[in-house]
Amino acid sequence: MKPKIEDVARLAGVSPTTVSRVLNDRGYISNQTRDKVHDAMTKLNYFPNDVARSLFTKRSNLIGIIMPTTTNPFFGELTFHLENICASLGYKVLLCNSLNQKDKEKKYLDMLMRNQVDGIIVGTHNLGILNYQKQNLAVVSIDRYLSETIPVVSSDNYEGGKLATELLIRKGCKQIVLIDGVKELEKSYKRREAYIDTLVREVKVPIIYEIPEVFNVQKQQEIIENIFSEHPEADGIFATNDIFAASYITAAKRHGKKIPEDVKIVGYDGTETVRTVLPELTTIRQPIELIAKEAINILLREIEGEFTDFPHETKLPISLLEGSTT
Ligand code: RIB
Repeated sequence: MKPKIEDVARLAGVSPTTVSRVLNDRGYISNQTRDKVHDAMTKLNYFPNDVARSLFTKRSNLIGIIMPTTTNPFFGELTFHLENICASLGYKVLLCNSLNQKDKEKKYLDMLMRNQVDGIIVGTHNLGILNYQKQNLAVVSIDRYLSETIPVVSSDNYEGGKLATELLIRKGCKQIVLIDGVKELEKSYKRREAYIDTLVREVKVPIIYEIPEVFNVQKQQEIIENIFSEHPEADGIFATNDIFAASYITAAKRHGKKIPEDVKIVGYDGTETVRTVLPELTTIRQPIELIAKEAINILLREIEGEFTDFPHETKLPISLLEGSTT
C-alpha cells in the first residue's frame, strides 16, 4: 500500500498538519523538524499527491499542448522547448497530437479541460472549434489564428516569404513555384502572400502547389511529382517548410535536375534536425526556442488573469540560412 501523510507524520514524530506545512512551505518550521519530515518521506518512499494538492490550491500546474504532430521536426523541437520551460517553472505537460483532425482536436480539448489544465498552447488549426473562446480559458496559439482574442505567437511569416522569394529572384530564377499547405488551414501564413506580392511586383506569375494532407508523405510526393510534368521549366522552388523542400530535392535528383544549376530551392523552418541531415538546404530559420518562451510568457500572464494587455499577434524575427541549394 502507498504510504499516507499520517505514516510520514508518525515516523517523523510530528502531526500530519506539520507534514502538510513542510510540503506546502507554509508557516514557521524549524530546520530540525523539516529534516525529520524529509527523512521519513525518503524512508517510506512517500510522494505528495499533486492531485489532492491541486484541489486545495485550485491550480493543477498542468499545461496542455496540442500540436498537429511531433513527428514534424518543427513541432517536435517546439514541443521540446515548451516542455523544458514548463518543467523549469514547475508545470507538467499533457501532450496531444491532433494530426490536424478536427474530431481528434475537439476530444483532446475536452480531455484537457476535464483534467483542469491551467492553460493550453495550441499549434494546430481550429476549423470551427469554438471551445477555445469560452470563459477565461488561458490559451495561446502558435502560428494559427484561433479567434479575434486568442494571442498568436509566430515568426515574421511575411518577411520570411519575402526574403525567400527575393533571394530566388536575385539568383536569376524566372519560374518560381511555391509548395505550400492548404490555405484555409494556414490562416496565419503570410508566407504565401509575400511570395505572391513579391512576384507580382517583378511582373512574374505565381505558380502554387498545395499539399492538402501535409502529414501524408505519399500524397506529398504525388503532388510534388506533378510539378515536373506540369512545370518542367520551373527553376526556383520556395517550399513553406523544410520537409516539402526535402521531398522536392529527392524528386529533382530522380528527374536528373542539378541543384542549384537547374533549379534552386529555399525551405522554411531551419530546425536543428533538418540542418543536421540536410545542411546544404537554404532555408528561412524560425526562432523556435524564442517562440516557445514568448508563448509561455503570455500564457502565464493569462493564467494570472491578465487577458487584455498583450498584442493579438507577436511576430518574432526570422533569419536566412544560405546553403548550396541556391
Ligand atoms: O513545418 C511545419 C510548419 O507549420 C512550420 O513552418 C510552422 O511554422 C508550422 O506552422
